[in-house]
Amino acid sequence: MTAAQRSRRSCLAVPGSAPRMIEKARGLVVDQFFLDLEDAVAPLVKAEARGEVVGALNAGGWGDKIRTVRVNALDTEWTYRDVVDVVEGAGGSLDTLMLPKVSGADQVRWLDLTLCQLEKALGLPASSIGIEAQIEDAKGLAEVDSIAASSARLEALVFGPADFMASINMPSLVVGEQPPGYDVGDAYHYVLMRLLTAARANGLQAVDGPYLQIRDQEGLRRVAGRSAALGLDGKWVLHPAQVEEVNGIFSPNQRDYDRAENILDAYAWYTSEEGGRRGAAMLGDEMIDEASRKMALVVAGKGRAAGL
Ligand code: GLV
Ligand code: MG
Repeated sequence: MTAAQRSRRSCLAVPGSAPRMIEKARGLVVDQFFLDLEDAVAPLVKAEARGEVVGALNAGGWGDKIRTVRVNALDTEWTYRDVVDVVEGAGGSLDTLMLPKVSGADQVRWLDLTLCQLEKALGLPASSIGIEAQIEDAKGLAEVDSIAASSARLEALVFGPADFMASINMPSLVVGEQPPGYDVGDAYHYVLMRLLTAARANGLQAVDGPYLQIRDQEGLRRVAGRSAALGLDGKWVLHPAQVEEVNGIFSPNQRDYDRAENILDAYAWYTSEEGGRRGAAMLGDEMIDEASRKMALVVAGKGRAAGL
């Protein structure tokens, strides 16, 4: 299975400048981790952090987690050096690069072309390094369809709630929580649906960003539960306490998984020679059809990936 198709239920954010946190990350049961060179790393230690990140990737011990590095955004002076140093130093031990604050398709294309050159120069397999694009400002969301279609390397769109809230002047200080005074629904519904639709229209995964209240399990359950219910593939985690909860929320429960497999079996039988290829298949008292099969495939796919 390629990194593009792999499960992304939990994605652990790890500052690239914090060797102890990097060490701890190896033992956590997350589907993906990213070593951050962007907002979790202070400007004065950006260069040093590149070296830490390269060392940590080459040292291995990451199991089958998706290995990602978040480089700095293209409106800074750091991006090209982040990409060149990380890929030259550890390109063979890297699955994807995450590009933050993507505001247009040209930015993803720049990264795609740069990776093409690096892969050729280093003798790495073509297109072995994927891209994830963070959508985290008004411009990025307005351009999300063209961003999602911009490169065959793209694997996922990732929502950045903190930067997004700041970008649209949402008057809240709690990342990912509803803004005070908004009591007529979910203030993120439009954003997440927009991102999810653009992702799916281009065969990409869709991942929700961080929930910063690391001691508030109830809040995490509520926020992550909404994203999972819409159909997003996973969410960032910032602390070991968030991992199990998030893995569970983005996996179907056993009952739903079993039911999905039963629907697939029943439909396969009814549409076989033996079942007579009847249009209306039944599972108990319930009619199932091609659309039911597709819905069941989504749940069964997530369950199989979670090892149910
Ligand atoms: C993540 O990058 C965020 O801005 O929430
Ligand atoms: Mg951000």
